Amino acid sequence: MDFDPTSLALPHVAKLHPYTPGLQPGEPGWVKLNTNECPYPPSPRVAEALRREIGEDGESLRLYPNPRSVPLRAAVARLHGLSEENVCVGNGSDDILNLLVRCFCDTGAAAGFTWPSYSLYPVIAGIQDGRVCTIDFERDMRLPVGRIAASGARIFLLTSPNAPTGAGFSNADIEGVLRDFPGLLVVDEAYAPFADENAIPLLARHPNLVVVRTLSKAYALAGLRVGYALAHPDVIGLLDRVRDSYNVNRLSQAAAIAALADQPWLDAIVSRIRATRDRCLADWTGRRGWFTYRSQANFLFTEPRDGAGKVDTGVSFFDHMLTLFAKHGLFDLTVKARGDTDVDYHHTVEDVGLVLGQAFKEALGDKVGIRRYGFFILPMDEALARIAVDVGGRPVLVYEASAPTMFVRDFNIGLVKEFCRAFSNALGANLHVQLVYGEEPHHVAEAIFKCLARALDVATQIDPRASDSLPSTKGLI
Ligand SMILES: Cc1ncc(COP(=O)(O)O)c(C=O)c1O
Repeated sequence: MDFDPTSLALPHVAKLHPYTPGLQPGEPGWVKLNTNECPYPPSPRVAEALRREIGEDGESLRLYPNPRSVPLRAAVARLHGLSEENVCVGNGSDDILNLLVRCFCDTGAAAGFTWPSYSLYPVIAGIQDGRVCTIDFERDMRLPVGRIAASGARIFLLTSPNAPTGAGFSNADIEGVLRDFPGLLVVDEAYAPFADENAIPLLARHPNLVVVRTLSKAYALAGLRVGYALAHPDVIGLLDRVRDSYNVNRLSQAAAIAALADQPWLDAIVSRIRATRDRCLADWTGRRGWFTYRSQANFLFTEPRDGAGKVDTGVSFFDHMLTLFAKHGLFDLTVKARGDTDVDYHHTVEDVGLVLGQAFKEALGDKVGIRRYGFFILPMDEALARIAVDVGGRPVLVYEASAPTMFVRDFNIGLVKEFCRAFSNALGANLHVQLVYGEEPHHVAEAIFKCLARALDVATQIDPRASDSLPSTKGLI
């Protein structure tokens, strides 16, 4: 008899995409960063507590653990100045998140979350066959307070500081959500020990708030799986109804109590990681010019740029120019184009300009924090190009460049103007291109492409002095 368990399974389970946990490489030699684990060991008190709990012969393991993890709940409550009724502990904070979604989400009651954020959320909602409601961040990563409050979700999962961006949200903003949101707001504070602020003080005023913490990150105990929820006793009561009866094992309970008791150890880890984080941020945004969000977590979200160009347009001279453009602007560029090059190169060059302009426009998003203006003067042997650009939304091209000879083999360098026009139109850029002087057509085209790349590099960088504001007095570009 053929047995097909998938056809017997509930339809929503059969089509579920499982969560893919971060790779845990088996072989040594990795500096492992992918799951934001702690690079330092836990407090030495943890190993002592584990040895004590196991004893000489593992005798204690015969017995089930404390089913409610009462001593651990008490330790968590003491640490945060709350009562034991405000605490539920879980097999990692994933367990807690799962319990919350199990209590508050199904086909009729949506679980909401911002995007991007922790990729487990849609999976645990999917396990419930639950509706989901996602709210996309704008590029500035500010908390969309009004949109969350009006989301209609029964439960909203907010990662703060957010993963993967590291952006932290102020208590003023979180309280803004709590004031108008009729559902349960879960603030997943997996990374809060690294942040300047946390939402725990808001619990006293807001019974619809749950704060979720983990010992996997700052306490360096990812291997033991301990997390907890802090909330109104009625919410905790619901979690206790649906959780596994012995959801935290004996060793993890003992180790967690020891770790929580060693706050100086935690503080030392946190200050080391914050110092490394802030040093990397300064280096990456400053010296390297990589776009990097300010982080309140133990990781940084960055876009390394090395100017690698993979260009194939079917026009070899144009490929050469675009590769230079990528290298000199530090724009990692992949271009593949196929056009009617049997007729001539006009359409291909123009269309690549349009698509590239569109790609720049999308990459710049709302343009918050960018420099907006850039200019450069670039010598290329006897040729000198001068270019100024404003990526503020006005598509105007002023182009003054002609050379005594316009052809490099069969490529007419007059097409560089068509490229610039298409690029300026699609990006919405005011582009002034001037060849101050120059004769050799290859040098002339190369000077213009390199100069354009360098000017755009400046215009598209984040200005660290004004990274939160739009570079316009009109409030709109
Ligand atoms: C935002 C967020 N919440 C929760 C977790 C899970 O933590 P735990 O190890 O306690 O299950 C992670 C793990 O990466 C996370 O990034």
